[in-house]
Amino acid sequence: MDPKPHSSASERNRDPILGVLQGYFADRRRVLEIGSGTGQHAVHFARALPRLHWQASDRDGNLPGIRAWLDEAALPNTPPAVELDVTGAWPPQTFDAVFSANTLHIMAWPEVEAMFAALPGVTTADAKLAIYGPFNVDGRYTSDSNAAFDASLKARSDAMGIRDIAAVDALARSAGFDPVDDIAMPANNRIRLWQRSR
Ligand SMILES: C[S@@+](CC[C@H](N)C(=O)[O-])C[C@H]1O[C@@H](n2cnc3c(N)ncnc32)[C@H](O)[C@@H]1O
Repeated sequence: MDPKPHSSASERNRDPILGVLQGYFADRRRVLEIGSGTGQHAVHFARALPRLHWQASDRDGNLPGIRAWLDEAALPNTPPAVELDVTGAWPPQTFDAVFSANTLHIMAWPEVEAMFAALPGVTTADAKLAIYGPFNVDGRYTSDSNAAFDASLKARSDAMGIRDIAAVDALARSAGFDPVDDIAMPANNRIRLWQRSR
């Protein structure tokens, strides 16, 4: 039996996300992925975008699974995954791009705030940021399925929940990142793009 963790959602969304990253990260070199989960995205994107140095990260408990995927793929552009809880110590390196998928609704809001507050310390002055997942618009769900998903998150924990685009944009702006694009993705998800200007 394959001991690696598997996420079917990550298999479904990886190519639509890759389609965006191929363009948006075309001029980038060093990507920090926050909350890599199983590690499947890291392998898929690093293999398809070999010019990128793809640094996977997550909380401690997910590192063995990510490492299993990275070790099996043995790509030249994926350094060992590093431990990163956004409320803790961040890697000492500097990145010109940051990617995260399906993390903001899992993190408690103070963790989301901590993540954005830390970005200036690990990014170049013109860094690009891409965040994939479900978002609310003007305080409203964008679909019945997102409303049901949010209810299931809240049943797991009061601290979880789909975030509002305006609130996330405000955090990005205070970290020096301006909005660049907002692209609708399958299954009522979006990919939000920002670039650091300050
Ligand atoms: C739903 S999973 C998404 C995993 C992967 N990015 C994907 O799209 O398949 C949420 C991820 O957020 C991570 N996460 C939650 N809270 C975090 C925190 N405080 N710091 C870093 N990562 C966190 C979890 O460990 C988990 O890997």
